Amino acid sequence: MHNVRKIVDDLYWIGANDRRLALFENIHPIPEGVSYNSYMLLDEKTVVFDTVDWSVTRQYIENIEYLLNGRELDYLVVNHMEPDHCGSIEELAFRYPNMKIISSEKGFMFMRQFGYKSIAGHQLIEVKEGDTFSFGKHKVMFIEAPMVHWPEVLVTFDTTNGVLFSADAFGSFKTLDGRLFNDEVDWDRDWLDEGRRYLTNIVGKYGPHIQVLLKKAATILDQIKVICPLHGVVWRNNFEYIIDKYDKWSRYEPEEKGVLIAYASMYGNTENAVEILAAKLAEKGITNVKMFDVSNTHVSYLISNVFKYSHLVLASPTYNLGIYPVMHNFIMDMKALNLQNRTVAIIENGSWARKSGDLLQEFFETELKNMNVLNEKVGITSAMNNVNNDEMDALVDALVESINKN
Ligand code: FEO
Repeated sequence: MHNVRKIVDDLYWIGANDRRLALFENIHPIPEGVSYNSYMLLDEKTVVFDTVDWSVTRQYIENIEYLLNGRELDYLVVNHMEPDHCGSIEELAFRYPNMKIISSEKGFMFMRQFGYKSIAGHQLIEVKEGDTFSFGKHKVMFIEAPMVHWPEVLVTFDTTNGVLFSADAFGSFKTLDGRLFNDEVDWDRDWLDEGRRYLTNIVGKYGPHIQVLLKKAATILDQIKVICPLHGVVWRNNFEYIIDKYDKWSRYEPEEKGVLIAYASMYGNTENAVEILAAKLAEKGITNVKMFDVSNTHVSYLISNVFKYSHLVLASPTYNLGIYPVMHNFIMDMKALNLQNRTVAIIENGSWARKSGDLLQEFFETELKNMNVLNEKVGITSAMNNVNNDEMDALVDALVESINKN
């Protein structure tokens, strides 16, 4: 049975939710699922904007057949060729032999790379930045958005009704559960964490490319009425809110003054140190603190929070004369995702050799940009002692001063 929602006149959401997939891109846990959004325009011509993951194609075809109501599908616009969106292209190509496909040069290159033989008999229309196309009443303009999130990406702007098909931009993890629009949910309360985790982990590396897209969007902002991303809610107001979030994340600026404490602890002694740290911070009035055991937290959550907070404390045992492996994985992910502009404090532990602190300091000073590593450190030999307690007081004072001055 079909399940569609009207967005504005002539335009419908025809996507589906996925609560079965455990790992998005086979990396990131999605305990709250994800939606694959696709859109259909019923004009003089019928048009689909992007498809969906293969796993939900049965629902998807029912949605399309219902809205077509016997008409042909005339056009498929492919803004993004990652398989969570292009998974049903071949199914549409088989079902609608007269369907013309519009995409970028690289979009068609990826279709060939993925082996989409079924598109061979279809008219392929290659578009680039600034090209326009008319489907009848509705005229669209194509805007290139490379690396948001793959190199082929387009966003498509309907100049007739102000709808922006924004590809992965402004998307989020989480299923829609019947709601479709941003004003049908409490996004700041219920979606922000998953929206940040999606953006920072999936596209975090490409902040400068997001900035380019935001600047292009700014030139038509007064004309944009609706933003239709490929995951998550459709935005029909409050654009300043989500654009501000994207602007901060893509400039690697923290959302909040606060402290992320990420620790590893083999036998509880390093954990004891960060518990003492958090209590001392609270006593000094710093309560916007979030603490994670990196051994029990998927790195995608750590990344989301390191993008959120202004200050980062890493507490790591020494392991094989190096940084504890899961902590090492976390900092390597920070590097891969281009994290910048944070103040970092380091706590190290080592029973027979303390190495992790120096290695962490060297990493932040040489591998990441604009990271301010505090001079005050805590160097634990097996378990906290009185000297460490004094070191912790100094570290807390340095953190408090840094937070209060920024
Ligand atoms: Fe949701 Fe880059 O694909």
